[in-house]
Order: sequence, then structure tokens, then C-alpha cells
Amino acid sequence: MLLAVEPPDWMADTRALGAALRAGGYRARPVAQAIGIIAWNGRQMDSRWWERTNCAEGIFGDQVELLLRGGRLSPERARAALPEVAWRSSVLDVAPEGVSLDGTIVPLEADLVWTDTPRRAFQGNDGLFLPDSTTLAVRRCLPSEPVGRHLDLGSGGGAVAARAARSAGETVALDINPRAALGCHRTAALSGLTNVRAYTGAGAEACALGTFDRVSFVLPLLVPWSGLGAAPVHTVAADGGLLREILEILPTLLARGGLAILYTQAWAGGHHPGGGLRTTLDRAFGARSWRGAYWWDYEGPSPVGTLRAGILAVRADGPRAWVEAPLDAPDVGVDDWWPGLARLLGEA
Ligand SMILES: C[S@@+](CC[C@H](N)C(=O)[O-])C[C@H]1O[C@@H](n2cnc3c(N)ncnc32)[C@H](O)[C@@H]1O
Repeated sequence: MLLAVEPPDWMADTRALGAALRAGGYRARPVAQAIGIIAWNGRQMDSRWWERTNCAEGIFGDQVELLLRGGRLSPERARAALPEVAWRSSVLDVAPEGVSLDGTIVPLEADLVWTDTPRRAFQGNDGLFLPDSTTLAVRRCLPSEPVGRHLDLGSGGGAVAARAARSAGETVALDINPRAALGCHRTAALSGLTNVRAYTGAGAEACALGTFDRVSFVLPLLVPWSGLGAAPVHTVAADGGLLREILEILPTLLARGGLAILYTQAWAGGHHPGGGLRTTLDRAFGARSWRGAYWWDYEGPSPVGTLRAGILAVRADGPRAWVEAPLDAPDVGVDDWWPGLARLLGEA
């Protein structure tokens, strides 16, 4: 059953904290540069970036230590580094041995994304996902043209939902992990967004939430993360069943002319030739027309043989077409991949 999760009362303080941090310079580029990378981009997010040396000094350096790298500061240094409102916003863990943050704040473009500390993220089954190159790929593929309703499935802490909310009247974030909804509310508040609604439940139940102009999902992958990057930071799916469930409800979820953008492996289970994406979509859409593009950026071993992983874009209605191509968009310095994806979909 789907459960709507309202933001807690203290979220106003988290909102004020986000505004103060952004105004004070805790933003994507300087934070990335503080840990020695040019910008948050694809592959650099597939490593243990939180362990990189913090080259920033002074108050900003202390912010990076506390908010990004999971460090602990003395109360005096934490007081100097953080705005006053941080002490009212329930994000700090104040202990005799020092002050730390109860999570990680990753600045991506204009957003401040809340997620777990790396320690907590990999604990048990309910850790919040640390945004990686697959998250970035979906964020970059979202068109900036405004739409009415966006559904972000498997929202985690809201890294994709926040980006989606910048071009949607309303963004609905849904995750099966009961800890995700609060993460999404924190991300929305820190990012100054007021149009994100959060639900706990399985993606397959999303039809109860109505229809959407856009749908996104960074899926847990069958492809083991060790194949994609250096660190075991990706959630791994048990089989292709979740992808199949989502593809089967896409025609119900998508409003007329709606667009779905997923990051997924090219296999939805079963024994379909050609990876199964196209055949599964064909079966799901039946008489309704759709066109799709698969823009893959990985090919390698998986438990079911060699698989690709990448962006799957599906446009409901309009002329039927299907195209597959290696993802050739530039990794560094470009936050907008939509023009390339639009060309592949035959829309530019
Ligand atoms: C790879 S993570 C992506 C998280 C977030 N969108 C991001 O990119 O940072 C996949 C997410 O899907 C969620 N998930 C897994 N199975 C699900 C299901 N059946 N329904 C909804 N969400 C699910 C997980 O809890 C996890 O948060």
C-alpha cells in the first residue's frame, strides 16, 4: 500500500539552512574542487569521492569536512563553520567527542541533495543510495521544458526528484525504502523546493497516483557495480523483474505524449531476443503507439551474460520507432544531455 509522508514541522529550519549554505558558497563547483575534481560528473561519482583529500581551508574547508566527507569537528569549529539555524534543523549529531552531520549533503547544480553518510548507506537494506553516475545520467537527460506532473520512482534521497522538480509543477517521489521519504523532504527543503511530495511504497503500485507527463527511475542494476566503476556503491537487483513491472505499467502512468527516462540494464527478464526492452515495451503498449531510444554507456558481464546498461527513453504516442546507440555525450562540464537524447528520439 502507498503511504503519503508529510514533511515534519522542523523542515522550515532545514529550508533556512539550505538557503544559508547556498548563499555562503556551499555549491556544486567549489565543493567538487575542494576534493580535487573538476566538477561533479559521471565517472568521478563512481568512486569513493567522500574519501578524497579535502584541499579547502578555513570555514569552507570545515563545511566540506562536516557536510560531505562525514568528518567530526570540535563544537567551536562547527559553530564557526555552520549558520546558527543548523543547530535547530535536526541534522546535527552533537556528541562529547565532537559534532557531525547525520547524513551527507551533495551539491549538484542548484540542488543540495541529502543522503546517508557512506557508513550508513551500506548498512543493512535501508541505507540511502549515494548519487552516482547513473543518477547523474538521468538528471542530465531530463528536459528543462516545464511540465505538469513528474513521477520519480526509486527516489532514494531525492537526487533525481530535485532536478525534476525544477521543471515540473508537481513532483511525486516514491521509494520502497521507508527512510527515503524523509531524505526527499530534506533534499527539497535544502534545495529551496516546495513542489515535491513523497510516498513510501513499491513502484508497481504507482498507478494509484494518477498519470504523469514525465517518469524517471534510476533502477537497481543487475550489472554488478564492480563492472561499472571502482567501488561497490550500487544497489544490485535480484533479477530483471522490477524493470519488467515498471515497463508494463508505463502505458498507464504516462499521460498523452508523456516521456519516461530510466537508467537500466537492457534486460527485463524472460527469454526475449535482443535484450527484451523493445519486445517488453511493445507488449506493454499494445495498440498504443510509442517510440524509444536506448543510449547505453556500459557493456560487460552480468549474472545473465553480457549486458548493456544505460538510458532508456520512452515517448508515449506519436510515430513508432526504436533506436540503440552508444552514449556519446560529453562527461565533463555539460549538465544538459537532453538535446542529444532528443535527437536520438527523433525530436530535434
Ligand atoms: C539505484 S537507487 C537510486 C536512488 C536515487 N534515485 C538516486 O539516483 O540517487 C534505486 C532505488 O530504488 C529503490 N527501489 C528498489 N526496489 C524498488 C521498488 N520495487 N519500488 C520502488 N523503489 C524501489 C531503492 O530503495 C533505491 O532507493
